[in-house]
Amino acid sequence: MTTTMESMRAPQGPKGSMLGGNLTAYRKDPLRFLTELQKEYGGVAKIRFGPQTMYVIYDPALLKEVLLTKQEHFIKLKAFQEARLFVGDGLATSEGEKHKRTRRLVQPHFTKAHIQTYAEQMAHIVRSKLDAWQPGERRNLTDEVSDMAFEIIAKTLFSLEGDRYTRAIREPYELINRMCSERMRSLLSVPLFISTAKNRAYKDALQALDLGVYSIIQQRKLKPDQGDGDLLSVMLSAKDESGNGMSDRELRDELMIMFIAGHETSANALSWAFSFILQQPEVEAKLYEEWDRVLNGRDPSAADYMQLTYTQNVLWEAMRLRSPSFFTGRSATADVQIGHFTVKKGQSILFSPYAMHQNPAYFPDPLSFIPERFEGDLLKRIPQFAYIPFGGGPRGCIGNHFAMMEMVIMLCMIGQRYRLRLAPGHPPIEMEALMTLRPKNAIEVLVSEVT
Ligand code: HEM
Repeated sequence: MTTTMESMRAPQGPKGSMLGGNLTAYRKDPLRFLTELQKEYGGVAKIRFGPQTMYVIYDPALLKEVLLTKQEHFIKLKAFQEARLFVGDGLATSEGEKHKRTRRLVQPHFTKAHIQTYAEQMAHIVRSKLDAWQPGERRNLTDEVSDMAFEIIAKTLFSLEGDRYTRAIREPYELINRMCSERMRSLLSVPLFISTAKNRAYKDALQALDLGVYSIIQQRKLKPDQGDGDLLSVMLSAKDESGNGMSDRELRDELMIMFIAGHETSANALSWAFSFILQQPEVEAKLYEEWDRVLNGRDPSAADYMQLTYTQNVLWEAMRLRSPSFFTGRSATADVQIGHFTVKKGQSILFSPYAMHQNPAYFPDPLSFIPERFEGDLLKRIPQFAYIPFGGGPRGCIGNHFAMMEMVIMLCMIGQRYRLRLAPGHPPIEMEALMTLRPKNAIEVLVSEVT
């Protein structure tokens, strides 16, 4: 999309208002704002949110500089500070040495090889959830897959059983997610120390979330032998160069980020995948053909994963059109040259996987759901960083293999066990861009027997 002329010009962008800049347009409809900018300005656009100048990058080559080759000049987007209120200073928000140390500590639990060891536990959780479903029922699919994804994180990483933690953490998080997105998008939000009804509800939810996570840490400290080698035990025994272990606050932050980053994104991606499958019978038919051929009624194991290529492509395509992480960004810690322009210290970069995945140069017929486009190594034929549902570079998603494995397992197991249809009179499934991109209202399905 970047033409030679364009690549020599200083980045341009829409004018916006004097005070808020482009914030009103963004707030009104962030997805439209981010896609329209790409159409109008190509590889990079310059915008302003209040006093903050930002460059929105759509050109994969420029993004590669930000995320990989010049990444040492950037930190996570400053606007994400609001999220720190609840995620704290864990792997996704920390910087520098602290980030590197935690990433090294956590990484072995997320390698392709290690993820295989979680497959049976993942399948076990999905199986026990599906046992409670009955043909003829109406179910809120979005909630069901969120519960499954949450329990999978709780069990595989922290050896926690059952749905007690789902309620203690997932429920307050729902309100926090909404309030946090609202506050991040507003120029002036009411400071939390001012006691409004909204602020009180937000603070209560934050407290409930804290309580849920701290209680997990305390229980494990009382019974340190539980959880044989799981991520929580590794974190509890980790020491820094000076021989100090993690404080309760640090442990809380790391657990929190795994719970939050680890369940909502996968649940959203899977909900979106179902939204397409349920509306495209030819996709559903190809999935059944693959499951019959590879699994023949069995639950999937880690060994089956590589054979389930169409299932994987359905998920890749769902994440192309409905990237759960619809935008993210970085702030510059020094003046840095990116392509033909300089990002000044303190200025920010935004990038939107959602918008970039609609670039017709890499994804012909971009708005159609076509899983087959991923066949024949699409990702090797398009530039690096053109398809980025999991971000990229040293701050790319640590849970990418985990997410793919759990989503494949959930999709196959739900589909093999029950036939789902959108509930009669279901309204169109709309998008809601909160911290992540999710279906605006629940996806309600009618469950029936597979015939
Ligand atoms: C479909 C599911 C998922 C999607 C689409 C997704 C997407 C992403 C993206 C785009 C980033 C990079 C953000 C940035 O560059 O600013 C990221 C980071 C991260 N993700 Fe995921 N994620 C998913 C699943 C998971 C899972 C299952 C886990 C953990 C179990 C996880 C844990 C993390 C963590 C800890 C980071 C921060 C990494 C760092 O800064 O070093 N994610 N994710």
